[in-house]
Amino acid sequence: MIVQFEARHWERVRVGGEHYLCLKQGEGLVVIQERCRHRGGPLGLGTWDEKTQCIVCPWHEMVNSPRELGRRKVPSVRVGNVMTILVPDPA
Ligand code: FES
Repeated sequence: MIVQFEARHWERVRVGGEHYLCLKQGEGLVVIQERCRHRGGPLGLGTWDEKTQCIVCPWHEMVNSPRELGRRKVPSVRVGNVMTILVPDPA
């Protein structure tokens, strides 16, 4: 399924029961499936550390490093202010 939304840091989009989060990574933006690797906490409700580009999960405060976050990336393309992602169809 193709989904489009505003291309900006910390923009969240819901597709079916799944949330996706747009994040800064280096000079660009990436989109991740926003479940924490611990127990699936909503990383989009967590705390962003600009300096380290890590997210602290709101549930048990596990730090999700850029490397960990990168494992949750979904295919995305940015054109201007529009981010397009390809995600599985909702069940
Ligand atoms: S679910 Fe994120 S730290 Fe536990």
